[in-house]
Amino acid sequence: MPAKSKSAKKPESVKAETIKSKNEITGTSFAVKIAVASVLFLLLKNFAHRGIEKALGESRVYEKTEPFFTIDNFMDEEDIDELRQFLYKKRRFVTGLDAFSDDRGIEHIGEGVEADENGNCPKDLYRTEQGNCFIPGRFDIGKHFFLTGGLTGAKETYEKLLSSIYAYYGILPKDFIETSPILERLFKRPQYVEAMDTLCRNHGQEDYYFKPTQVNIVLVTPGQDLPLHYDNGWFWGANRFTIPDYLTVAMTTSGLWDHLKIRQAQSVVYLHGSKDDPIFKHGGNYVFYPDGPGGEMRQIVPKRGMGVIMDGGQIPHGGQRIAEHYTVANHGGKDQFHRVEYQSNDTWYIMNDDDIISTVKTEDLRLSFVWRGLCFDSKEHADSYDSYPEIPLEEILNTFEADMKKRGVLPKNAPRPPPKEFAHTLIKTYISMPPQNVHNTLPFNYCIISKEYPWLKTILSPFCEDVQPYKRLNDELPPARPFCGGRKSTNCPEE
Ligand SMILES: [Fe+2]
Repeated sequence: MPAKSKSAKKPESVKAETIKSKNEITGTSFAVKIAVASVLFLLLKNFAHRGIEKALGESRVYEKTEPFFTIDNFMDEEDIDELRQFLYKKRRFVTGLDAFSDDRGIEHIGEGVEADENGNCPKDLYRTEQGNCFIPGRFDIGKHFFLTGGLTGAKETYEKLLSSIYAYYGILPKDFIETSPILERLFKRPQYVEAMDTLCRNHGQEDYYFKPTQVNIVLVTPGQDLPLHYDNGWFWGANRFTIPDYLTVAMTTSGLWDHLKIRQAQSVVYLHGSKDDPIFKHGGNYVFYPDGPGGEMRQIVPKRGMGVIMDGGQIPHGGQRIAEHYTVANHGGKDQFHRVEYQSNDTWYIMNDDDIISTVKTEDLRLSFVWRGLCFDSKEHADSYDSYPEIPLEEILNTFEADMKKRGVLPKNAPRPPPKEFAHTLIKTYISMPPQNVHNTLPFNYCIISKEYPWLKTILSPFCEDVQPYKRLNDELPPARPFCGGRKSTNCPEE
């Protein structure tokens, strides 16, 4: 029995060992397979990531890092408080579309048509207040934002992202520039003088004259991005009042008009938070590329009183989304009147026409005081700018066309493409920006595909955040304080 049982046990033990060894082999091979598959997946992902980056962005690195300056405690508490008082006096802050719609000159390059009888525009064209359909002035910014998902790499539908592109502006009166003791004090600060000397005196000239062109306060509410962009370019004979915005940017990025380019500087001072808690609690870093679109991404944490100064026409820059995980309200149609209005008790209403769509506290707003201006050789030089003869639009378009033919972007002997197609080719050729985001995730917002192919929306829905249903809060909240005047009005004189 013992022998039998011994001999009977042997095959079991051999079998067990064989199984164990098979398991080991299978286990090893499985682990190897997993490892190989993971490496392949990572390589492919990396490859796709880089490929997409290359397709969506630009790898140009500047020969020299563009100068930029950050000044801690640039503005003192008293001045910050005084500017914050302006918020409550001004009460209404509107989108860039309304804030900067003054004195527009040529707004299109020939693609413009009238909206149809239902007020609709053809594909790719957007309606203006006057009922015309154009390629929007900052089409370059929107295109990049929707394709990449912005600086947080959002994977969101077109409709959702449309509710995350709002920043609100209050333009300070023109005489504020000349008469404000706040600006006068800032302009005298040694670090500011040094910054402006560097930004404005780059051609070895003896002296320079800085002419501020615009001073405003910017409010950004939770859930909003400040998409990456170049500021409008300024040239002798061309600017945003004489040609569409994107052309002024392409004139800068192409380098074809450097001989006529006017240096510019933009300064931002943060006003949010408090003296004891100066860092903005909802994030929203300032992101910029001083080495060019192919260079390293830099970030600045927005801090109360801090100044950030650079040439925004030369350095791509933007703001990371505020309160990234906040569920933003559906802001409704983009052609309506969007704004934020102060009520009382530090409460603001975000409004769309007569609808209150969201409410926000002052402490949740990212607040900044911004001024930008141009660098001239002297005051006389600056004064002669407005009467300088305009470069005809056709001349600008011809120069771009010739350059694109030289680069092989357009066929040499073919006529210029129709205006809409020409504008899109021009934007694609000259204004690409870095596609990366602060989380270094896939720089392609695949959710945007469902704008073109709506049937894909359901399939993509588990991977894409969609917009909330539109909700009017008028019945749930006290009525909005009345405002005098129409859309253009930015305050009630009697209040
Ligand atoms: Fe800017």
